[in-house]
Amino acid sequence: MSNEQQIRIYNPSEEAVKRARVSGMDAYRALCKEAEDDYEGYWARHARELLEWKTPFTQVLDESNAPFFKWFGDGKLNVSYNCLDRNVNNGLGDKVALIFEADNGDVTKVTYKDLLSRVSKFANALRGMGVKKGDRVVIYMPMSIEGVVAMQACARIGATHSIVFGGFSAHALRDRIEDAGAVALITSDGQFRGGKALPLKPIADEALGLGGCDCIKNVVVVKRTGGDVKMVEGRDTWFHEAVANQSETCEPEWVESEHPLFVLYTSGSTGKPKGVQHSSGGYLLQAMMSMRYTFDIQPDDVYWCTADIGWVTGHTFIAYGPLACGATEIVFEGVPTFPDAGRFWKMIQDHKVSIFYTAPTAIRSLIKAADNNPSVHPGKYDLSSLRLLGSVGEPINPAAWEWYYEHIGGSRCPIVDTFWQTETGAHMITPMPGATPMVPGSCTLPFPGIQVTVVDETGTEVPWGQGGILVVKRPWPAMIRTVWGDPDRFKKTYYPDDFKGKLYLAGDGAIRDAETGYFTITGRIDDVLNVSGHRMGTMEIESALVAHEQVAEAAVVGRPDDVTGEAIVAFVVLKGPRPTGDEAKAVVKELQTWVGQEIGPIAKPKDIRFGENLPKTRSGKIMRRLLRQLAKGEEITQDTSTLENPAILDQLKG
Ligand code: WT7
Repeated sequence: MSNEQQIRIYNPSEEAVKRARVSGMDAYRALCKEAEDDYEGYWARHARELLEWKTPFTQVLDESNAPFFKWFGDGKLNVSYNCLDRNVNNGLGDKVALIFEADNGDVTKVTYKDLLSRVSKFANALRGMGVKKGDRVVIYMPMSIEGVVAMQACARIGATHSIVFGGFSAHALRDRIEDAGAVALITSDGQFRGGKALPLKPIADEALGLGGCDCIKNVVVVKRTGGDVKMVEGRDTWFHEAVANQSETCEPEWVESEHPLFVLYTSGSTGKPKGVQHSSGGYLLQAMMSMRYTFDIQPDDVYWCTADIGWVTGHTFIAYGPLACGATEIVFEGVPTFPDAGRFWKMIQDHKVSIFYTAPTAIRSLIKAADNNPSVHPGKYDLSSLRLLGSVGEPINPAAWEWYYEHIGGSRCPIVDTFWQTETGAHMITPMPGATPMVPGSCTLPFPGIQVTVVDETGTEVPWGQGGILVVKRPWPAMIRTVWGDPDRFKKTYYPDDFKGKLYLAGDGAIRDAETGYFTITGRIDDVLNVSGHRMGTMEIESALVAHEQVAEAAVVGRPDDVTGEAIVAFVVLKGPRPTGDEAKAVVKELQTWVGQEIGPIAKPKDIRFGENLPKTRSGKIMRRLLRQLAKGEEITQDTSTLENPAILDQLKG
């Protein structure tokens, strides 16, 4: 960053500095120093100031069973109480908590008092079905008020929820239900997206019929689209009937700080997704700290995170963080391109959104749309309510950053490029909006208290200016606690022996600027792709492909894509002869549909190429680096002399 290339530095405006909690770099450094001088004291201070404890903690960090760390271990609290009752008790009962905007534009506002009552009723209904502390509940729902209510209701009774994104297939849903051993499934008849009603309950039924889901005793169904659904006697209940006669009050289950609030499945480098297990106290603490320091949330803000509750961003920045801070937030059912690609900008205008948090892939697709159709250009809308912008999910390329800054933020709003992961629970590296000078494409500096660095393969820190592996040096309160049901996998994946079990391995490469020490994420170092900000394991897609009766072998790699960041490219060997022409096209379609059914539409390969074999070394190892070059359409520069069968490279050129 510091050498030839001309780098623009964007300083936060005086106004942003003046109003921010972390005001100026000295304030940022003071927080970092506080944490360095007394690591436990720093987090404990925030945990006492920001959370309401039923039983105050006396222990802070317990490292005795590393890397299974515990935070605030002897403290007790309830997450839903901290998000709802506390705000109502503090006079925010009539403040709007959720502004729900439906796909068709209908708006419903829910106050804190109303949300508390809805959550309590549903929590009582779940209790009535026998759901209790520690039970797992799978939620397979669209973006909705009931989705947030379901999450909060689980938290209220100490049930551990596991959200499965509504775009996942029956197979993916079944696998997650089975792995979690869930006792209940909460879903809806269907969902509206882009003016269309899509089914959900029928997919859930299919999942439950696939076997392995006998653990599910109750299914609760929200009526949304009015689509036809089959209700199974003794198992299925309508949501509105379940809550109809319930009391509006529900005593929260006071749980230990370490009690698992949720398990969220995410892709790793093997075929099987990992159930990332999060805690209650430590998680909620950092959800709040991210809201307060990174987003500088204030009482008059209207906050909008465009993520789906099916991803971690929708957990920390829709279901928990904003509510714990007593904020007003938008929950949006629809898609950014319906009724047209001005939808986001219109919603910012209509609801006077002040903080807007979205993904680079959305920004890039809306830049394209605005270029093609001036009537949806953000310049047509009044975006003057905005004061802060955020980006998450993948590196944001400088051109998209600058467009976002100028056309959405009016060259006045700081952009926080927040690096974090499902496993980290909350922001890890991000600018502070009223302090950090911003450099497009860099997530800048660690969140106050977080200790990250860049190391080589041996775990030795590399100098600034030299690329390496991103690691976290000390445990943090919102970190993953384990992989559900598989502690060994947790250890091996995140605290590998290569680093003597002492460093958390994020799975990303990074480089620090030689002068400023700013971090830039250089991409995953494992077999994980990032498609539209969603993590996809290449092995997962390969397993889905080889499960098709025609496929003998498959290898999946990523290729840079203008809009989605990365695109999925699959190299496939069929059991029969290598198809060409129209036959190949038909098989491509068939396999894309297949992967969509096996995992979900987000996993569909964009490009599928057929070979009589895959490029392998003499020892039979697939040469993935070579496949990546082929996927990009690059000339093969690599030495291919070890290749068993060089002739097939021509077949795979695409
Ligand atoms: C992976 C985590 C955490 C919310 C959404 C994704 C990539 C995420 C950034 C960023 C560069 C980023 C990393 C990371 N990533 N944010 N600001 N700059 N890369 O959560 O599905 O767990 O994916 O997303 O590769 O490891 P996730």
